Amino acid sequence: MDKLRIKGGGPLRGEVKVSGAKNAALPILCAALLGSGELELDNVPQLHDVATMIRLLEQLGVRTVRSGERVVLDAAAISSHEAPYELVKTMRASILVLGPLVARFGAARVSLPGGCAIGQRPVDQHIKGLQAMGAEIHVEHGYVEARARRLRGTHIFTDMVTVTGTENLMMAATLAEGETVIENAAREPEVTDLARALRAMGALIEGAGTDRIVIQGVEKLSGASHRVMADRIEAGTFLCAVAAAGGEVLVTGAQPETMEATLGKLREAGARIELGKDWIRIAMSARPRAVDLRTAPYPGFATDMQAQFMAVNCVAQGVGKITETIFENRFMHALELQRLGAEIAIEGNTAVVKGHPELSGATVMATDLRASAGLVIAGMVAQGETVIERIYHLDRGYERMEEKLRALGAAIERIS
Ligand code: EPU
Repeated sequence: MDKLRIKGGGPLRGEVKVSGAKNAALPILCAALLGSGELELDNVPQLHDVATMIRLLEQLGVRTVRSGERVVLDAAAISSHEAPYELVKTMRASILVLGPLVARFGAARVSLPGGCAIGQRPVDQHIKGLQAMGAEIHVEHGYVEARARRLRGTHIFTDMVTVTGTENLMMAATLAEGETVIENAAREPEVTDLARALRAMGALIEGAGTDRIVIQGVEKLSGASHRVMADRIEAGTFLCAVAAAGGEVLVTGAQPETMEATLGKLREAGARIELGKDWIRIAMSARPRAVDLRTAPYPGFATDMQAQFMAVNCVAQGVGKITETIFENRFMHALELQRLGAEIAIEGNTAVVKGHPELSGATVMATDLRASAGLVIAGMVAQGETVIERIYHLDRGYERMEEKLRALGAAIERIS
């Protein structure tokens, strides 16, 4: 299993380009199941999770051609409706084939994802929404089995804001008969990007980006071209690295308008930030100031940026209070950060972090994707050498992270 070795110390300088967003690419790849022509995607990040999703779609019979950041998909010859446990267990986002399969082919059999390191993460809202649209659903032998002649538009009010839940139901509704209204919908930019791709395929969707999405079902969707939006979490991770380590970096290929909560917190931490249409320049000349934050659905502070800010707080001046409201078990990085000398007290869903001028390098273990990103940032400001084990978590969601950081002057290498 690969590891990362990092020698801490020294500011970051230079330019780094952000890849396409993992959490937009994954649902948009699944949207290919809905169309009867080729879906041509650009800016698809080269990540482990994307490869897993493509493998799953190919197993269903989708033809895919991939060259670099371009992926062309064609669902003309679907041969299976089943997403097996072996694939779903490695990537929860596989549940995103459920809505498209049942909407287009009238049948789906998708393994239940089960729990994961950051929390229980049930999919009851996906199931309830599809049932409300007329799908007959049984959960048997660990699989969700769904059938429907044709889904019917309906009024759905989700119990909580769910990103992939909203995406699954929005995709299903594009081919349903009549109008579907999703209330309490997720407003994440990735939902809006999916809606953009679906509209290019001929779907009639209004209100994406608000908490009320209205979809008029159509008989058929076609092929289309779409460029996947920039990864706001990857961009935010580089910015946090500079906030912790100091220096001056230009982040290109970004969409700053999707990152207001993150940028606000970085300014509070003392970073100087300049924005252009698709770039962000960050300069940090002193030790950061600790920030308080509370995760929330978009446009609130993203849970996917929580671990990275915890790492910044570990070396900040003052005490920062971090409250996690989305997932019940997303503080595992705190224990690993403590191994690097961080002072963190956890009470329930709140972590109180007292900043220290220095951390000290050690061997730590990545527990999930964003936790790994937090550990990389901490490793870059720790004295001496830090080794991060189990970085396959990192490879699921960051494209060549160590290469990109090395280009900014970080002493980081992969050990195979
Ligand atoms: N929830 C339910 N029932 C459901 C759906 C969700 O109880 O049917 C709960 C979850 O357990 C959680 C909350 O609702 O407590 C919100 O979960 P959500 O459904 O929004 O999460 P998700 O769609 O499974 C996506 C991202 C995550 C990101 C979250 C929150 C993708 C593929 N994944 O997950 O990304 O943390 O939204 O913003 O879009 C990551 O990239 O590292 C990652 C974990």
